[in-house]
Amino acid sequence: MGMFERDTEIYLDRDALREDYQPENLVGRDTELNRYRAALQPVINGEQPNNIFLYGKTGVGKTAGTRYLIDHLEEDAAKYEDIDLTVKMLNCDGLSSSYQIATRLVNEFRDETSQISTTGYPRATVYDMLWTELDSCGGTIYIVLDEVDHIEDDSILYQLPRARANDNLSSAKIGIIGISNDFSFRDDLSPKVKSSLCEEEIQFPAYDAKELIQILQQRADVAFHDGVLEDGVIELCAAYGAKDAGDARQSLDLLMKTGDLARDKDTDTISEDLVREARDVLERGRIQEGISGLTQHGHLVVYAMVTLDQEGKTPARTRDIRPRYTNFAEKAGIDPLVPRRMRDHLGELSMLGIISAIERNEGRRGGTYREYSLEMDPEMILAALEKTVDDVGIHKSVTNLVDSEATLSDFQST
Ligand SMILES: Nc1ncnc2c1ncn2[C@@H]1O[C@H](COP(=O)(O)OP(=O)(O)OP(=O)(O)O)[C@@H](O)[C@H]1O
Ligand SMILES: [Mg+2]
Repeated sequence: MGMFERDTEIYLDRDALREDYQPENLVGRDTELNRYRAALQPVINGEQPNNIFLYGKTGVGKTAGTRYLIDHLEEDAAKYEDIDLTVKMLNCDGLSSSYQIATRLVNEFRDETSQISTTGYPRATVYDMLWTELDSCGGTIYIVLDEVDHIEDDSILYQLPRARANDNLSSAKIGIIGISNDFSFRDDLSPKVKSSLCEEEIQFPAYDAKELIQILQQRADVAFHDGVLEDGVIELCAAYGAKDAGDARQSLDLLMKTGDLARDKDTDTISEDLVREARDVLERGRIQEGISGLTQHGHLVVYAMVTLDQEGKTPARTRDIRPRYTNFAEKAGIDPLVPRRMRDHLGELSMLGIISAIERNEGRRGGTYREYSLEMDPEMILAALEKTVDDVGIHKSVTNLVDSEATLSDFQST
């Protein structure tokens, strides 16, 4: 027997659970896809295409839905002789400026021998090259800018939709599809960009458990051998997914992690217990990742929040968190931050979903304040905070959560 042996007990086609797998049909998204389809219809009618802005949280099918509809659009457009459709799909992750987008687009339309360098030209020159390429391509051109929020200046988002009106294009009809999961990006667009880019706005809402079951079932049918999944496994993955964020990607990841655990453990079937175990592993990883990106002060603030949580003292205000944090900072041998800077850390932690913040009114005196609570599992957080716990010592409220031989340090009643 070799060192590696092909294992085929669990998976029929594991790749079907991966993000880049394109399912033949999208499930549970009919209403939105119908609206999207209607917005693309002018292409088939030979009319000027709509500029479309598609938004929604991460993992709700924006990219998959766009690919799906564009594939059909290209296929159906090919049946009409008078329609000449070209679609360029660009992911803007890694392309941070309009200039980079424009050079990338020029190169998309040019053959390998006449590619331009991505630096060195004046911006107006690059735009001129782009208009030339678009016009010589002609017909109807859709440019899809996925994850469009990565572009830091909106010049291209203004120029492309207006190219025809500004007489930069004569023969080509051009439409833009912008896709984003960043809601503030759309709100922060300048009014002139918003009015041209967002002719048609489509929102994809988060999935509920029922929709996630459909999505998972569809992929599981391809990915796993018959009879491998025990009853309730798909439902449990979907329930976790719906509770977390209604994110299909996260739910598919959970199902794949579960399958991988089954494979590692050499089991014949996949049980609900294995789903729970997989979720635990993924959750730990997520917390670890979130925490490792924080500064030392961030760690101290999280540690303070965990101990307050364990004592039942949350939701807590900044003034309640501060003494604990200050005490911890001193024990770790570093200078505590001023209150305002400590509050910045609380804000960052809420952005990461490690804690949550609720705005409250000060009563008759007016004004507002915030109350913070812990959102993630305290034991998992402490595991990720190992070094901080070492530096500060184990607070009495968390002794049962930390498995360590370290001796308890004596804490004042702060
Ligand atoms: N309605 C659906 N039917 C089948 N599969 C789906 C559906 N929606 C999403 N998926 C799958 O879920 C995963 C995530 O979807 P997708 O990549 O489209 O998310 P997104 O909205 O583009 O997220 P992001 O904002 O992070 O880019 C993909 O593997 C996709 O195939
Ligand atoms: Mg996407």
